[in-house]
Amino acid sequence: MSKVEQLIDKIRHHEYLYHVLDQPQLSDAEYDALMRELQALEHADPSLITPDSPTQRVGGAPREGFVKLRHSSPMLSLDNALNEAELRAFDQRVRDLLGDEPFQYVAELKLDGLSLAAQYSDRSLQLALTRGDGAEGEDVTPNARTIRSLPLKVRGDRPQFEARGEVVMPNAAFQKLNADREQEGLPRYANPRNSSAGSLRVLDPSITANRQLDFYAYFLLADGRPACPSHWQSLDELAAMGFKVNPARQLCANVDELIAFCQRYAAQRETLPFEIDGVVAKVDSIPQQQKLGWTAKFPRWAIAFKYPARQAETVVEKIDIQVGRTGALTPVAHLRPVAVSGVIVSRSTLHNEDEIARLGVAAGDCVVIERSGDVIPKVIRVVRQGDPRTPFVMPAECPVCGSSVSRPEGEVVSRCLNSSCPARLKESIAHFAARPLLDIAGLGDVLVEQLVKANLVHSVADLYDLTLEQLAGLERMGTKSAERVLTGIARSKTLPLPRVINGLGIPFVGERTAQFLAEHFGSLDAIHQSDEAQLMQAEEVGPKIAQSILRWFAEERNWAVVERLRAAGLVFTHQKIDRSGGPLAGLTFVLTGTLPTLSREAAKEQIEAAGGKVSGSVSKKTSYLVAGEDAGSKLDKATQLGIKILSEAKLLPMLAKLEA
Ligand code: IVH
Repeated sequence: MSKVEQLIDKIRHHEYLYHVLDQPQLSDAEYDALMRELQALEHADPSLITPDSPTQRVGGAPREGFVKLRHSSPMLSLDNALNEAELRAFDQRVRDLLGDEPFQYVAELKLDGLSLAAQYSDRSLQLALTRGDGAEGEDVTPNARTIRSLPLKVRGDRPQFEARGEVVMPNAAFQKLNADREQEGLPRYANPRNSSAGSLRVLDPSITANRQLDFYAYFLLADGRPACPSHWQSLDELAAMGFKVNPARQLCANVDELIAFCQRYAAQRETLPFEIDGVVAKVDSIPQQQKLGWTAKFPRWAIAFKYPARQAETVVEKIDIQVGRTGALTPVAHLRPVAVSGVIVSRSTLHNEDEIARLGVAAGDCVVIERSGDVIPKVIRVVRQGDPRTPFVMPAECPVCGSSVSRPEGEVVSRCLNSSCPARLKESIAHFAARPLLDIAGLGDVLVEQLVKANLVHSVADLYDLTLEQLAGLERMGTKSAERVLTGIARSKTLPLPRVINGLGIPFVGERTAQFLAEHFGSLDAIHQSDEAQLMQAEEVGPKIAQSILRWFAEERNWAVVERLRAAGLVFTHQKIDRSGGPLAGLTFVLTGTLPTLSREAAKEQIEAAGGKVSGSVSKKTSYLVAGEDAGSKLDKATQLGIKILSEAKLLPMLAKLEA
C-alpha cells in the first residue's frame, strides 16, 4: 500500500470512530495533523487525489440549480398507524396474508429528517438523491458528501449498491444553528427537520458542511431491490460497511413486542439526541415482504407507528417583556396553559420584534405551539386572530427600571441601556456564577434575588466582598450553606481567563469567542487596549463582535467592575498562542473558487495557523486573492484593485515556511 493509501485508511478509520461510532481515539489536533500530511502529499502529486479521499468532502463552487434524476426504484412512503388498535389491525392483515408462516418484525425508530438515496459503485459514493416526488429526486451529491457519517468509501465486498436512509440534524446542532442565526438577525428554523432540509437543499455545499448533519441508513438495495434475504441482515451489513445505523432497533416476535418497543421509545423520546416521530415496523424476511406486496401507495409489509405531534393549540393571553443580562428585551408569550406531550406549557419566548412580525402574532390570538428539538416550546403559527387582539409594541422604556431602550441598526434586539438595571443585575450575577462560567456552588436564582434585594451586591465584583455574617444573615440561609457559597466564590478566583471573559456578559461574546480572545490576546488588559481592527485579528471576531466589546469597555462602570475583579484576584492572563512570528503575519487573504486540493476551510485554517488572516471580501486591504477554478466576481474585483492573485500552488510554499 502506498503512503497516501495508508494515510487515507487511517484517516477513514478515525473518521468512522468519531462520526459513526462516537468513540474518537484521536484528539482534534492529531486528526488535523494526519489530514495535513495527506493534503501535503496530494499537493505534491495531484495525480494521487481520488474523489473519495477524505480531503475531498467539500469542494466545488456553488451551483446554479439542482438536477432531477430518476431513482433506481421508487422511494415510497409508509402507511401510518396512529394508535395501538391500528397497529394491531396492521398485524392482523399481515398474519392473514402470510397464513401460518412464522415471521418476525424489525422495529426501528422513525427519524424525523429527510430521506436520501446514496448510490455507490466501486465502493465509492457516486450520487446522492433526495426523495423528491418518489420517482425522481434532486441530485444533492456535493452537499451529501459533506455529511461526515455518510462514507465516501465503504468497506466490505459489495462494490455496487444503494443505501437509503434519513438525514437528520441532531438537536444540539439545531440549537446552535438557531442561536447563531438569531445573532445574525436571520429567522430561526422551526424544527430540526426543516433545518436539515434547509441545510441539504442549498446550492453552496460549504453551507451544508457547517451544519453537522448526520445520515442513518435503513435500506440496502442492489439494482433497486433489497440486497439481503432479510432486513435485519441488511442493517448489519450497512453497519459493517461503515454506515451509521440506528442502534435502537429490535427483532420482534409478535405485535406485543412491537408495541412494547413503541412504548419504550415514546418514554425516551425527550432524551434522544435527535427528533423521532414514531417507530417503523417492517416484516423482516424479504421473501415474505414480496409475498405481502404493495397496495397502490404503500408496502403491506411495513407501517409507521406515529407518535402524537408535540403540538397544541392555545391562546396568547398577553405578551410581556423579559430583561436579560445584556439588557436584551425579549418578548414572551403568556399562554393559556396547555399540555404538549405530557408537559404543561404556559410561556413561550417570541425572541424579538422581527419574529413577532414574521408570525403576525398578537395577544388574544389562537396559536399552534410545538416542542421540537428544543426543550423550550415555540409558537409556530397563528391559527385564528383574536377578537379583541392587542398588537405588540416594543416599549421605548425598560419595563423594569424605566431607562431608555435602543435597537442599534442592523440588530434584531432592543436593549435596556442602564447597566445597573435590577433585572440586568440579577441576570448578570446568575450568569457569572453559573456552572460553565465561574461555577459558584449554591449561588442560584433565589440567592441572587435575595442579595440584590438586600442591597448587598450591585455588580458581580461585590460577590468578592461578601462576608459570612452577611450571607448567613439572609433568610433560609444557615452557616453551612453560607460557607459553601464563600468556598465557591474563593474557588472562582482560580478559574481560567476565558471563563472570566465569558462571565463579564459582553453582548455577543460567548464561550467560543471568549476562548479565541484569551488565546489571541493573552490578557484582559490587551483586549481592553485593542481597537476594532486589532480585535478583529482574533479568530471569528468580526466587526459586530469587535464593536460590542468596544462599547462594553467604553462604559466606565464596566471597567470599574473589571478593576475590582482584578483586585479580588481573578485570573486575568492566559497562555497566548503567538502567531505574529508566522510567515503570513500581517497579511490578509481572500479565497475564491475551487482550489485543487484544499477545501476552503482547510485553506483558511492553514493560513491562520501561519499567522495570516482570511477575510470574506476583497478590499484595498486585501494582500492576496487565492483563486481556484470557477473564481467569480472576487477575481474581477481583485484584478480591478490591482491585488496580487495566487494559485494554491503558490500559496502552499508560503505556508510551508512555517516549519522552517
Ligand atoms: S422505511 C417504503 N425506515 O419516514 C418504505 N423510513 O413514510 C420507506 N423514515 O419517507 C421508508 N426513519 O423518510 C423507513 N427507519 C426508517 C425511517 C423511515 C425515518 C422516514 C422516511 C420515509 C418516512 C416513512
